[in-house]
Amino acid sequence: MNLLITGGLGFIGSNFIRYILNKYPDYRIINLDIVSYCANFENLRDIKNSPRYSFVKGDIGDKKIVEQLVSRQPDAIINFAAFSHVDRSIIDPDEFLRTNILGVHVLLEAARQCKISRFIHIGTDEEYGSIESGSFKESDILNPSSPYSSSKAAASLLALSYFKTYDLPVIITRSSNNFGQFQYPEKLISLFITNLLENKKAPVYGDGLQVRDWIFVLDNCAAIDYILHHGRIGEVYNIAAANEKTNLEITRLILNYLNKDESSIEFVKDRPGHDRRYSLDCSKLRNLGWQPKYDFSEAMAKTVQWYKNNSQWWQPLKSGKYLEYYRKQYGTGAAPLEQF
Ligand SMILES: NC(=O)c1ccc[n+]([C@@H]2O[C@H](COP(=O)([O-])OP(=O)(O)OC[C@H]3O[C@@H](n4cnc5c(N)ncnc54)[C@H](O)[C@@H]3O)[C@@H](O)[C@H]2O)c1
Repeated sequence: MNLLITGGLGFIGSNFIRYILNKYPDYRIINLDIVSYCANFENLRDIKNSPRYSFVKGDIGDKKIVEQLVSRQPDAIINFAAFSHVDRSIIDPDEFLRTNILGVHVLLEAARQCKISRFIHIGTDEEYGSIESGSFKESDILNPSSPYSSSKAAASLLALSYFKTYDLPVIITRSSNNFGQFQYPEKLISLFITNLLENKKAPVYGDGLQVRDWIFVLDNCAAIDYILHHGRIGEVYNIAAANEKTNLEITRLILNYLNKDESSIEFVKDRPGHDRRYSLDCSKLRNLGWQPKYDFSEAMAKTVQWYKNNSQWWQPLKSGKYLEYYRKQYGTGAAPLEQF
């Protein structure tokens, strides 16, 4: 298979690219990424010279680049590209709407023109909003709370409309919170681990009793792979691993792994519109034949260890020296588009 993957220099996209190239010796990948602040060439250092991997620097909202790549008829497009940090979307929603909605529209339109045979759009559990008890099914209404989650909900609905109106073979995945290696240190788990390793505080929002359902990133990659090969077109699939924890529980777990006590916690003012609980009913995906394989505690221990062992990866990101750092290592890192 030839895959066009967008946003593949980010956290989940880079883990997914490695997962696919390792699992399928004959698959080829083109990675289209705008190289935003959270993109990182280091995430794919081990495969950047693979003859089956190519990188194009560009915006999913750039019609010219997108049409050029899509006209090469990849067997599937998998869209990870997004602005993904809720707090940033509250401060400045513009980029979220531009990439997460309008950018997705450019991709869908190019896919329709070129009659692409599979379009996987990566959504999020945040599109459903908060739920006090029980779990959301794929058929539940979307009730997002932040500019980030509403931009993602808009994109999912737009993608599904392309299936209904134009028969574009769209599939949507909506996963719960991911954790694991190569996560930009601004999200809860990667931020708290790296803060604590630097002897800083872990800033917990409000009372810390917000519930998230955590999935190890490689389980999410395996689920997306499964859906790519076995999912039914026009469907939405929830992806989670039944690890609901409060933010405070997660914080205490990390403190414990790092031999720190609760004096390292700092309770900070809650995020506006902060969803209390996310929960997904994943029976549809289980019935299709996929289930997670990683044990939560082992995956957490492995993740903490990874950040401990890889301070050279996250320290330049936290000190703001990353751009300078990768330019020195890789130049621009991008091959000219004409090469593809
Ligand atoms: N991280 C999670 O816990 C989680 C959970 C559910 C769903 N998701 C979704 O999964 C996807 C990937 O999330 P992530 O955590 O890896 O995000 P990330 O922020 O780490 O990576 C996003 C990548 O997209 C790229 N990008 C942004 N705008 C682009 C544009 N206009 N054109 C091309 N590339 C662009 C960035 O440069 C970056 O490499 C997102 O769609 C996100 O909404 C994430």
